[in-house]
Amino acid sequence: MSDHRRPFQRARRWTSQAPQASAARRRRRPASPRLLNTARTRDAEFDLGDNYMHRREFLVASLATLASSTALAQTKMDMSNMDSMPGMDMSGHAGHDMGPMAKGAVALPEGEALRNLPLLASEASTPGLFKAKLTAEPTVARFAEELDTPILAYNGMSPGPLIEAYEGDRVEIAFANRIEGEQSTIHWHGMPVPADQDGNPMYPVAAGADRVYVFDLPEGSAGSYWYHPHPHGKTAEQVYRGLAGAFVVKAKTDPVPAEYGDTVLVFTDLRLAADGSMPENTMTDLMNGRVGDHVLVNGQKNPKLSVAMGAKRRFRLYNATNARYLKLAFDGAPMTIIGSDGGLLEAPVAAREILLSPAERLELVVSFEKSGPVTLYTLDYDRGWMGPGRPADAGLTLLTVDVSDNLAGPVPPIPERLRPIAQLGNPTASRRLVLTETMTMTATDRQMGFLINGKAFDMGRIDIVSKAGQTELWEIVNQADMDHPFHLHGTQFQVIEHERGGKVTKSPYLAWKDTVNVARGETVRLLLRQERPGQRMYHCHLLEHEQLGMMGVVDVRA
Ligand code: C2O
Ligand code: CU
Ligand code: CU
Repeated sequence: MSDHRRPFQRARRWTSQAPQASAARRRRRPASPRLLNTARTRDAEFDLGDNYMHRREFLVASLATLASSTALAQTKMDMSNMDSMPGMDMSGHAGHDMGPMAKGAVALPEGEALRNLPLLASEASTPGLFKAKLTAEPTVARFAEELDTPILAYNGMSPGPLIEAYEGDRVEIAFANRIEGEQSTIHWHGMPVPADQDGNPMYPVAAGADRVYVFDLPEGSAGSYWYHPHPHGKTAEQVYRGLAGAFVVKAKTDPVPAEYGDTVLVFTDLRLAADGSMPENTMTDLMNGRVGDHVLVNGQKNPKLSVAMGAKRRFRLYNATNARYLKLAFDGAPMTIIGSDGGLLEAPVAAREILLSPAERLELVVSFEKSGPVTLYTLDYDRGWMGPGRPADAGLTLLTVDVSDNLAGPVPPIPERLRPIAQLGNPTASRRLVLTETMTMTATDRQMGFLINGKAFDMGRIDIVSKAGQTELWEIVNQADMDHPFHLHGTQFQVIEHERGGKVTKSPYLAWKDTVNVARGETVRLLLRQERPGQRMYHCHLLEHEQLGMMGVVDVRA
């Protein structure tokens, strides 16, 4: 019992370290007076909370009128010079252009046994009720030897505790926001919860305040969901500082053999400065989304998992990074996709490699047929990168599986049918959402905006009015220079087709999704139906883009 509460990252409370750490960060900034001035302004913006947001909204809104391809091209040309420009802190993180273990990057221990994420225990004894507490608060983690890293954690852990509940359960989670000076919320990513229980930015929980989230898990909702903060203007930062966790809804009867186990693998992305602190976002991070120096699995770098020869294992893969695309393969073990964001597919699909864009999840069965080490590693994927410092994505080992010579016991085959998925019918409304980027630069300021239909997010504006229970066709058109993972709250959708350069590719199988990558120059068409009334967000899940405006509100009316 006390084991469950044991902080995952050997965390302890901190109060005094925080100001020291940020004072140290400030001291290390370059000593040019112009740079110092800019640095101070940026720190002040981060500290001001509401004022910062208002200023940012104003700036981003003013961008919408300045969008032109000339301005964009100009900006991109200037990006090669960014090091010499005031306010462009391109030197804040070492070695991005040289990959994750470049000089200056802090080394992390590898090869520890993979930890299972600690389960969030239900306090309820009534069957069908899942009741628990989640507290978001600062703590200190130890990622690298002798380096303290101030992080944010749920119940002292990052990733947060694994929540497991069953279809049909009522969930009651009391949330305590103990992040000093910052609003927060808990958003139940992908889950069919009422709009006012979904942790939208319209329902902030003030610093020091509490609230209870209550929702029911409908039949058929089994799937791999997750939870993370969604406060206005602070989502990206709170997530990269450590706030994210997995929420697995289990089916009462699961067609996947229990012999496969059920292992959750949450990928996060960590960047550490030499003193162990997490550097703030730079201009490069804001443009491209923050990519770290180390991809972690359940908080560990390249952990080890031991299995018997011939075993099959079920894995739930979560991309909980702010902005890192993960193109993955197991070296020497065949993969079969059995589920997507919103639960099982109709039938298993063999895969040689998979692309998991930020916020996406996949369920896999992996067959370990030969003894010896098998690695889960990354392949190259070009998602469009602005300016210098494109991270070297290929060749990272995320997990090492040691397949022993001992034979596994009897292993049942993967079932041929998993569950039926009803095709969403003919749409009665259609929407077109065009994603664009804008950049402006003046002698004193550089601003960028990420827009949907030419507009930056405004919490007071309703962008789309929908009718509950009505099937709609959404067409997401990416006219920007980067891929954007598109996410919608409140329901799961079905991707019908991708179109690029006039070529239409139909989805090869039906799947429930809440996040889909829309590649540069691509149009993705999806069918969806919202069942519950209320305001829902849709946005790019590169969280820095969400922060810079690539988000809208759909009001679902009864
Ligand atoms: Cu995973 Cu609106 O978020
Ligand atoms: Cu979401
Ligand atoms: Cu984006």
